[in-house]
Amino acid sequence: MNTYQEKLDLLNKKKEEALLGGGKARIESQHKKGKLTARERLELLLDEGSFQELGMFVEHRSNLFGLDKQKILGDGVVTGYGTIDGRTVYVFSQDFTVFGGSLAEAHAQKITKIMDLAMKNGAPVIGLNDSGGARIQEGVVSLGGYADIFYRNTRASGVIPQISAIMGPCAGGAVYSPAITDFNIMVEKSSYMFVTGPNVVKTVTHEEISSEELGGASTHSTKSGVAHFTAGNEVEALEYVKKILSYTPQNCEELPPSLPYEATDEIRPELNDIIPEESTQPYDIKEVINGTIDKGTFFEVHKDFAENIVVGFARLAGKSIGIVANQPAYFAGVLDINSSTKAARFVRYCDSFNIPLLVFEDVPGFLPGTEQEWNAIITNGAKLLYAFSEATVPRITVITRKAYGGAYDVMNSKHIGADLNFAWPRAEIAVMGAKGAAEIIFRKEIIAAKDPEAMLKQKEDEYNEMFANPYRAAAYGYVDEVILPEQTRERLIRAFKMLENKVDNLPKKKHGNIPL
Ligand code: HXC
Repeated sequence: MNTYQEKLDLLNKKKEEALLGGGKARIESQHKKGKLTARERLELLLDEGSFQELGMFVEHRSNLFGLDKQKILGDGVVTGYGTIDGRTVYVFSQDFTVFGGSLAEAHAQKITKIMDLAMKNGAPVIGLNDSGGARIQEGVVSLGGYADIFYRNTRASGVIPQISAIMGPCAGGAVYSPAITDFNIMVEKSSYMFVTGPNVVKTVTHEEISSEELGGASTHSTKSGVAHFTAGNEVEALEYVKKILSYTPQNCEELPPSLPYEATDEIRPELNDIIPEESTQPYDIKEVINGTIDKGTFFEVHKDFAENIVVGFARLAGKSIGIVANQPAYFAGVLDINSSTKAARFVRYCDSFNIPLLVFEDVPGFLPGTEQEWNAIITNGAKLLYAFSEATVPRITVITRKAYGGAYDVMNSKHIGADLNFAWPRAEIAVMGAKGAAEIIFRKEIIAAKDPEAMLKQKEDEYNEMFANPYRAAAYGYVDEVILPEQTRERLIRAFKMLENKVDNLPKKKHGNIPL
């Protein structure tokens, strides 16, 4: 095997072998399950012809349980780099056709290699997960391999965007890498995530449950919030990855990509008619969002989880922004445990990656009740307070209607560092609703009155007159300007432009201690 031709033949043979993964039969079985292969996924994800593979010929080094007789080039994961919309990304794509995509020493080293490159070069890491978890035959090196990844996920958090798409099984401790990354996308019906599967659940708790119900896409996007996006199929899941990146910079030292913009329709009269006559009537905050931003640019995150708050990316005058908005159409937009943690995580993502924050506020307060108190609404609500207080990106709030109680403080008030607060003329900014307030502070007068109900109504009206408007807050400067709804977009564009060069630093510290 000395001639140049023989060497070329060997290289081509090895390449062919590596490209075949676990073999034709296993590829067919993957297709029969309605799933794509690791390489097909990368082709769909990356710009055409941009994928550069690394470690194609890596093999495991184990001789345990007969593994020395089963070596497959690539060791069950395809790794490398490429581009999405011309921007560099690092990728790994687990190959279920090889040992069920299971992870052990060599497989993990391939992943950590591209993570290290991504960190040094300041570009996102995208993981396409499809794996039976720790490779059982290799024992502790499989566990070590996972931990090597978790460690890097944590180190990279807030430095480079990390996105996980779950395209198949993701079980046991394996779930903790996606959990640390910024976004999880799950494919309906073919992906699942759980720490312990249905069999263990049955043994320990005697509950009978399917994989889908325990940890499928719909469970994690509605009940646990582990999944930020649910995709109908794998192609859609990969589109989600691209869309997230389109709003996000390559790393924490860059600004998000912006699109060219020419002023056209800055005044939006349709916003004037959204708030209902009655202040207790619901309306859809997404009408306000869509009515304000560049048309068609709202990209909602965590759509089906804690719907009383809406979060997502958008563009305003071509620039990427993050939106956090109470949703009066769902539970009156009340803040609770899930909505607080959902919003806090999104705020921290935006702040990590220099994406300015826009808040639409219409919140009656925090949700009362034992369920909330016993599950620590105190600690969880504090997460959102902490996340906003810590954020140094440009931050603006528009109070569309209610800003009551602690929720007024929490929802990006100026007291916790927002740069500007605007209010619409119908805004109500008070410690609590007028009826409850009147019942407490005028209790004696109401009891002593000849007609207590009339007295309550009178006191309620007095309180309303005092606080059910934005002018008291504006008199203190807590609201910078009371604006007509139709002016919102124009004011926001101007204000974010004014804040473009904002510099704000946190006090020197090792790191804060967010209430977890
Ligand atoms: C080695 C594995 C494997 C694993 C699957 N395979 N999982 N090999 N280690 N963890 C192999 C199978 O033996 C099989 O090989 C091939 O992959 C395809 O698997 P099938 O079972 O035929 O596929 P399917 O029916 O689709 O079932 C997929 C599955 C199942 C549900 C993922 O394979 C499974 O339950 N695997 C074990 C899951 C598990 O318990 N993993 C460990 C979790 S603990 P052949 O050659 O027969 O085709 C963990 C700890 C991590 O991950 C801790 C980190 C801190």
